Amino acid sequence: MAEVIIAADEAEGSQLAADIVASLIRAKPGTVLGVATGSSPLALYERLAAQKHTLDMTSIRAFALDEYVGIAPTHPQSYRDALRRTFTQPLGLSADAVQVPDGDPETLDRAGEEYEQKIVEAGGIDLQILGIGTGGHIGFNEPGSSLASLTRVKTLTPQTRADNARFFDSVDDVPVHCVTQGIGTILRARQLLLLAFGANKAAALAAAVEGPITSSTPASAIQLHPFVTVMVDEPAAQELRHADYYRYAYIHRPS
Ligand code: F6R
Repeated sequence: MAEVIIAADEAEGSQLAADIVASLIRAKPGTVLGVATGSSPLALYERLAAQKHTLDMTSIRAFALDEYVGIAPTHPQSYRDALRRTFTQPLGLSADAVQVPDGDPETLDRAGEEYEQKIVEAGGIDLQILGIGTGGHIGFNEPGSSLASLTRVKTLTPQTRADNARFFDSVDDVPVHCVTQGIGTILRARQLLLLAFGANKAAALAAAVEGPITSSTPASAIQLHPFVTVMVDEPAAQELRHADYYRYAYIHRPS
């Protein structure tokens, strides 16, 4: 079962999540991280960056979860550029330390396979940081995604495009397609750290953690992974049936 940690708020959850990532980097120089974009991991990245003078992060490498199709890598809302601003530069990493799927429409037929190959060549992902969509996606694996899927092109749901419209001038500017790590790709990572903050994540989170494992809730696939931490705040935890047990188990976690 996933370890579910219910933090008082996003700030505390992000700090606890940063501590998990930092201790892995300390233990394993050359750690390979899987990095999500969007809002959920931003405070985690800030807290990691705050440690860069005491924790040597120069040897880490990272793989983005996904990228939009058809917006230039230099576009401010491309995930490549978003990661440059929020992760690569603040942590002091070189640009080539962070790989992002190629969303160029001209080469889409190769994008998935090439990305999978790069992950394999890097020795696999040690820890994959995940957010969860309000419709239950991880990466951009929308409902109906195969639980065995690898990196490929997907069509974003209208709900995901509406959710992400806040980063664009209008919902019409949000790309319709993306290249995303598959659920099978995500499950190959050695450790998963899923972040969910805010009441708008409560239903999807409860379905993912406590519902049946189903492609209708792609995030429920995390239940198949042996090493998962789910970091949530109180509003995101409000629909968890076993919240009291998770709190109890956290207080009494084996040392
Ligand atoms: C982002 C990604 C998505 C987001 C999810 C939550 O790379 O793959 O699964 O993690 O849509 O987005 P936020 O964190 O913006 O609520």
